[in-house]
Amino acid sequence: MSVHASNPKKITTHTLLEMKQAGQKISMLTAYDYSMAKIVDEANIDVILVGDSASNVMAGHETTLPITLDQMIYHASSVVRAVKRSLVVVDMPFGSYQGNSKEALSSAIKIMKESGGHAVKMEGGQEILDSIKRILTAGIPVMGHLGLTPQSIYKFGTYVVRAKEDEEAQRLIEDAKALEEVGCFAIVLEKIPAALAAKVAQMISIPVIGIGAGNGVDGQVLVIHDMLGINNEFNPRFLRKYNNLHAHMLKAFQDYKNDVQSGDFPNASESY
Ligand code: KIV
Repeated sequence: MSVHASNPKKITTHTLLEMKQAGQKISMLTAYDYSMAKIVDEANIDVILVGDSASNVMAGHETTLPITLDQMIYHASSVVRAVKRSLVVVDMPFGSYQGNSKEALSSAIKIMKESGGHAVKMEGGQEILDSIKRILTAGIPVMGHLGLTPQSIYKFGTYVVRAKEDEEAQRLIEDAKALEEVGCFAIVLEKIPAALAAKVAQMISIPVIGIGAGNGVDGQVLVIHDMLGINNEFNPRFLRKYNNLHAHMLKAFQDYKNDVQSGDFPNASESY
């Protein structure tokens, strides 16, 4: 019997661990608003990530850096109102946890109190362990995020695949072990070689969710706008598009405009 069948109710961090132990893959998608989250939850996606990618896909910023704690809370609370089953993980935005563990704790508490989310996600390894530890002491579950960490884009200078060289790969392995040891319930690995991601997933006991990290991990995450094909200008190798909403939406908007212009809309049955 699958973990899903035995636990049709809410997904918890414990469910994800059981899924890893049972060899069942974990599905995760981002969502930032009520209407999308309602459909994602209805589709039984295990984890909804209120990603700071909202900064890109919702607000049109070039990077994830500008989004604020209050803006993340706005998105997260909209998502939480829609969800019956999925675990809702909320990204801690840039500047809300680095360097000062007390500030990190108060940011995480604000997210949990004001959004109703179930866990937070933080980018980084050993350099943020103090912040993670302090947040965990408050009983807030933490998901780690290693590999390509978009909040550090100005340090990397590029969005290319990370940890291809031995030294960086070794550091990533050490970071993953440290995140497991400190008590993170799962880790996202972004844009690293598939073999390295598979090695990490075998090496640690907590679930490893990949994006651009191959198929040897415990689950997958995609940004919802990307997998729906809303942005037709973003086509990285790791992205599988499950729809071409850009084309469908464009056609719908053009059809509507034509109907308004021609006077076809509204017709008699659409009028009072
Ligand atoms: O913000 C986000 O959407 C993310 C995913 C890419 C994992 O962190």
